[in-house]
Amino acid sequence: MTETADHRDSYPPTAAFAAAANADATLYQRAQTDRDAFWAEQADRLQWHRPFDRVLDWSAAPVAKWFVGGTLNVAYNCVDRHVLDGHGDQIAIQWEGEPGDSRAITYAELLAEVCRAANYLTELGLRAGDRVAVYMPMVPEAIISMLACARLGLTHSVVFAGFSPTALRQRVDDAGARLIITTDGQWRRGTATPLKAAVDEALSGDPSTVEHVLVVRRTGIEVPWTQHRDLWWHDTVEHATPEHEAQPFDAEHPLFILYTSGTTGKPKGILHTTGGYLTQTSYTHHIVFDHKPGQDIYWCTADIGWITGHSYIVYGPLSNRATQVVYEGTPNFPDEHRHWQIIEKYGVTLYYTAPTLVRTFMKWGREIPAAHDLTSLRLLGSVGEPINPEAWRWYREVIGAHRTPIVDTWWQTETGAIMISPLPGVTTTKPGAAMTPLPGISARVVDEDGKPVQKAETDADSPDRSAVVGYLVLDQPWPAMLRGIWGDTERFHETYWTRFAEQGWYFAGDGATLDTDGDLWILGRIDDVMNVSGHRISTAEVESALVGHSGVAEAAVVGATDATTGQGIVAFVILTAETENTGTELVDELKAEVTKQISPIARPRQIHIVPELPKTRSGKIMRRLLRDIAEGRELGDTSTLVDPKVFEAIRTGKA
Ligand code: PRX
Repeated sequence: MTETADHRDSYPPTAAFAAAANADATLYQRAQTDRDAFWAEQADRLQWHRPFDRVLDWSAAPVAKWFVGGTLNVAYNCVDRHVLDGHGDQIAIQWEGEPGDSRAITYAELLAEVCRAANYLTELGLRAGDRVAVYMPMVPEAIISMLACARLGLTHSVVFAGFSPTALRQRVDDAGARLIITTDGQWRRGTATPLKAAVDEALSGDPSTVEHVLVVRRTGIEVPWTQHRDLWWHDTVEHATPEHEAQPFDAEHPLFILYTSGTTGKPKGILHTTGGYLTQTSYTHHIVFDHKPGQDIYWCTADIGWITGHSYIVYGPLSNRATQVVYEGTPNFPDEHRHWQIIEKYGVTLYYTAPTLVRTFMKWGREIPAAHDLTSLRLLGSVGEPINPEAWRWYREVIGAHRTPIVDTWWQTETGAIMISPLPGVTTTKPGAAMTPLPGISARVVDEDGKPVQKAETDADSPDRSAVVGYLVLDQPWPAMLRGIWGDTERFHETYWTRFAEQGWYFAGDGATLDTDGDLWILGRIDDVMNVSGHRISTAEVESALVGHSGVAEAAVVGATDATTGQGIVAFVILTAETENTGTELVDELKAEVTKQISPIARPRQIHIVPELPKTRSGKIMRRLLRDIAEGRELGDTSTLVDPKVFEAIRTGKA
């Protein structure tokens, strides 16, 4: 650590790391001098069936076309070519099951499995462009399913296995999926819990577009069965032939839809396509994680239900011929040693996780990781929410032995791949700062009018940055950018491209500051989207689940600062006149309603039953003031309130 004049600590790369790093400082300049040539060079990391004629066509902005005229097959790039290059025996997936079972899958085996699945999906009548929902825990078949879809040009829509039947149905209907791939059940802290049953529940009621449900046996629990519709994976896929020739698809062929929360109750189906997405996930995985194929053991702890799992478990690492750990369970089952045991067991070198987990590890105590040999680690990554400097330093000191670089990577479901991050071996990092846009990426921090915000002294530990907080915008198209919101062009324009329409910039929805060195500090969402343990949840979604309960007349939800999860969900509800306030009993019922409508991850930390909600004269709920109450702060300016006395009522109501 070096102390700089203004007492900020900063961490330059070691000479040894820099000497062997995939990234070098000239990349920034090269990308700036000729952006198209730079991205063409990155695209050439992949194997194209037909080379592209043009790097970027931005004439139909904001819908970009990257690598125009090029064709390729994503699964071929992630699997076949490594086998053809003589690496069939290299382990692709080192899978660790929750109960302690494990499975090593080589690239050759992965190829056979993907081909079998592709052959069977073809036999089912699925054709390029059809949508397939994947609702599975972290089992190898989930990755195999995604790759089989990619191989056939089927558009997958992975739905996190923690989502409720209602949430699954909403996503399946929106995407118009013809097939759902799932498992009989999933392991949850030593217990097999049903999953296929959730699919049955989702599909009960009105007819849906789903023709078949393909079920992988994972736990062996009993499952209800619908003849003709339901199919066992082991009776079908496992009997299919392991040879399949991958067909090329256009660079802009839809690869997947992934639903994420926005500012309204309805989740948005973010659409990603083929060539640009694979180029940027592959490039970023290579330079941000300094990944060396055949040498590194990489582990990203995300779930495939989120974008991090798509880009940095499936497409980025596999396109780079990684050997990676895929873990099915939670970090504290059977005990809090699990992650460190896995790192020790497999000799993990690159570890990528979320700040909320780092803070949880801190709470559990440093003696837990200290009981393990973690010397294999050579780089640590962070994603999903701002990492507070204290957690950053702990991560580097306790897990990284004062030695490993930390890459704090900012990106979104919509950006598809990492956008802002230090480059290991190049960047001198600062705890809590995402630092700079990657070579080839351009970002700005601007005010309401699009003018650059003033640079300011940024003291990580007492961040009083209110005067210079700006909006984070992306002012140039990038290869992995979303191509739209599935079935909702208007919302796509409105959400991302209207705020700075004149300039044609992408509005990220995050606040940021620039320090005097010009480095970026991401502050988190500035809209009504909460970030709970790195999961994006909209206030509107939780509010609509709450008012779905017959006893609730109105609800307002805010994200309150939480020391471990980043934010915690706090709800304020007004009951209907005929509802009796039974206290805890009713609150528990309301919490259960949110779990049922969405998922346990959206379950409010607290629910306050209140007589009134603070509103502006135009009738908008003043969330800022509710946040003040939820966080126990002094109240801010209440002058625009209809009736400031509402507050007293709320305070008493909440007691
Ligand atoms: O607020 C930012 C936060 O996560 C949001 C994107 O969420 P999602 O689409 O679910 O993708 C998460 C994984 C890429 C962003 O708008 N976020 C993500 N990474 C960071 C972050 N905030 C601060 N620092 C980060 N490194």
